[in-house]
Amino acid sequence: MKSIKDINFKGRKVLLRVDFNVPVDDNKNITDDTRMRESMPTIEKLLNDGAAIIIMAHFGRPKGGFDAELSLAPVAKHLEELIGRPVQFTQELLGDKVAAMAQNLKDGEVMLLENIRFYPEETKGGVELAEQLSKLGDCYINDAFGAAHREHSSTAVIAKFFPNDKYFGFLMENEVKNLEKLMQNPPRPFTAIIGGSKVSSKIGILENLLDKVDNMVIIGGMRYTFTKAMGGQIGKSICEDDKMELALDLMKRMDAKGVKYFLPTDSLIADDFSNTANTQIVPSDKVPADWESMDIGPESCKMLKDVIMSSKSILWNGPAGVFEMPLFANGTREIATYVAEACKNGCFAAVGGGDSVAAVKQMNLADQMSYVSTGGGAMLEYLEGKELPGIKAIKE
Ligand code: 3PG
Repeated sequence: MKSIKDINFKGRKVLLRVDFNVPVDDNKNITDDTRMRESMPTIEKLLNDGAAIIIMAHFGRPKGGFDAELSLAPVAKHLEELIGRPVQFTQELLGDKVAAMAQNLKDGEVMLLENIRFYPEETKGGVELAEQLSKLGDCYINDAFGAAHREHSSTAVIAKFFPNDKYFGFLMENEVKNLEKLMQNPPRPFTAIIGGSKVSSKIGILENLLDKVDNMVIIGGMRYTFTKAMGGQIGKSICEDDKMELALDLMKRMDAKGVKYFLPTDSLIADDFSNTANTQIVPSDKVPADWESMDIGPESCKMLKDVIMSSKSILWNGPAGVFEMPLFANGTREIATYVAEACKNGCFAAVGGGDSVAAVKQMNLADQMSYVSTGGGAMLEYLEGKELPGIKAIKE
């Protein structure tokens, strides 16, 4: 991969694509600025070199045209605090005024373009928009791993206008380096812990990992599709009936490849999807008809502790239960604690995907993981073995 480490950008006008799609509360306060902070090494390197930076970013999914609710204005303000210097925010979209602002931007100055998705062409990968953007700067850096699975004008198409002057930022480089470590040559035993509500959204990753892992732990709502497929009673627990055949097939293939798979043996079940529900612990395949499984039980935690603590590499994507409600957060917390413990003993553990990252942050254990990805969908597609357009565009 091309790194910016060995290049001096002094006097250059750098077009930098970042993923500042951060969560905000009702008052537009940023509730988690990890993605912004993770791009700071790239921004600081460029500022230290003496470059002028024109930042492109998206925010949410605008339906077309300007939407004040999805303006990057709060992000611009926060960026000023992070870099300790003013950020020229283009409240207008592209046009003469923005072109003049870019033209007049001096070395060491930073400009942030308004939400690039206010142009519907962006998500269609419009070439004209990419060309217009490309004229604002004289080289292109992509540091937006979280959006690298999108073939959009500013994430991929724009790169073709800089055939000899396109680079990965430090965040992007770091993400790929860490994920490749697991995909290419993981210290063994290598355990994947895959959760989430649906088998259908995790099929790609499960299949791609079949050839790579020693242990596969299947947690979250998706496990009930497996349990029901094996003849278990799952009550009202979430299940994709049309994926039961697939679940059986996946188990057969894991057996054939010598992959050990682990399904939680007991469950914390509830009589209502609420934090004040009545609960009980039952075997995972004996959930009464009107009850719903919400988390893994203590016996499963013990089983997973042994698997996790004896692993040398771990990939964790997807929580064990409905951790957003304190009553059902125990299984996910236990897993996070064991993974943190394993890391202390030298295991390399990568955590990724919106929910599992939110969980380790909620449990104050994020900084004890070897690596926490900034990518949700991007990380998932990467682990499915797909070539991400944002990465391909720089490489080719
Ligand atoms: C994300 O939040 O996962 C990225 O910013 C991509 O956003 P998108 O799913 O709206 O393309």
